[in-house]
Amino acid sequence: MAAVDLRSDTVTKPSAAMRKAMADAEVGDDVYGEDPTVRRLEERVADMLGCEAALFVPTGTMANQIALRSQTRPGDEVIIGQGAHCWRHESGALAALAGAQTQIIGSDGTFTAAEVRAAFKGDDPYQSPTKVVAVENTHNMAGGICWQRAALTEVVTAAHQLGMAAHLDGARIWNAAVAAGETEKQLAHGFDSVSVCLSKGLGAPAGSLVAGSRALIKACHRFRKMHGGGMRQAGVLAAAGVYALDHHRARLPEDHANAKALAEALAGAAGLRVMPPQTNIVMIDVERGTASAVIAQARDAGVLLGAAGPQRIRAVTHLDVDRDAVLRAAKVIAEAAAKL
Ligand SMILES: Cc1ncc(COP(=O)(O)O)c(C=O)c1O
Repeated sequence: MAAVDLRSDTVTKPSAAMRKAMADAEVGDDVYGEDPTVRRLEERVADMLGCEAALFVPTGTMANQIALRSQTRPGDEVIIGQGAHCWRHESGALAALAGAQTQIIGSDGTFTAAEVRAAFKGDDPYQSPTKVVAVENTHNMAGGICWQRAALTEVVTAAHQLGMAAHLDGARIWNAAVAAGETEKQLAHGFDSVSVCLSKGLGAPAGSLVAGSRALIKACHRFRKMHGGGMRQAGVLAAAGVYALDHHRARLPEDHANAKALAEALAGAAGLRVMPPQTNIVMIDVERGTASAVIAQARDAGVLLGAAGPQRIRAVTHLDVDRDAVLRAAKVIAEAAAKL
């Protein structure tokens, strides 16, 4: 029996139909600006996010990093929520490549406008000027949680009133839109830069975009080149993204329902505490033993999971796992935890 891989929503394999769309893509040299499929994807995503322009990049990491680098100078500060990807999981790029320092605020990945105001450092030669607030929605390490639209508006307004820019890491904005019953455009409203990924819940093999004003995207274009992200016949990858938007976005509620089913099947399991999922990420706390012990036992039984801390397991649903698979995984996880 095939393993049930719940380590991430990045583990999906491109379907035969997606591969055909990739093979059939009309391409050109995108470093010369000549790839029509890349252009089409960039225009479509800019429109979906209500932005003037967008730029196709290989990864979400590059999208975040060039957006933040474009809006800071070395020595500037970026305010970030607890556990944010652009701080915790991007190899220190903000420090190494943008030369920015970070200040972490909030406690569960989200934060308030009051916390932004309290954290802001103004015009003081002894301090690092705070230039950008970065929001992550959905928030990965906080368990795929969604921001309320009112809270987003308050944070963006506070940032702008203080003369800062607001960046949205919307790697999973598609999931956030489904869960919040909003459009991506509504969730991105007011942000100066937005990064989105096609390679997470949407199932493309690679590809992200950064969106914003034409001026910002021009600056991002230069940093994309500097970071080594200029690609040639990238339409092959962009075609997978177009296919993913056309065919995989509408099915995201299925992933959310499967995450809920997994959490419900584990509710009451001995030695486990499960956070009710808002989207496709389920955080499971291990009360006895360690997360890695449960993960090792589950792996031997054909269920792959990730660790999100010494006591915390992360399970992510996606288009390559169905309801039977998640229920099988729940049984294996409960049995593994019961043995500790
Ligand atoms: C919230 C978030 N932002 C950005 C990224 C980075 O994406 P990539 O792995 O394509 O660099 C990830 C990856 O999982 C993520 O979860």
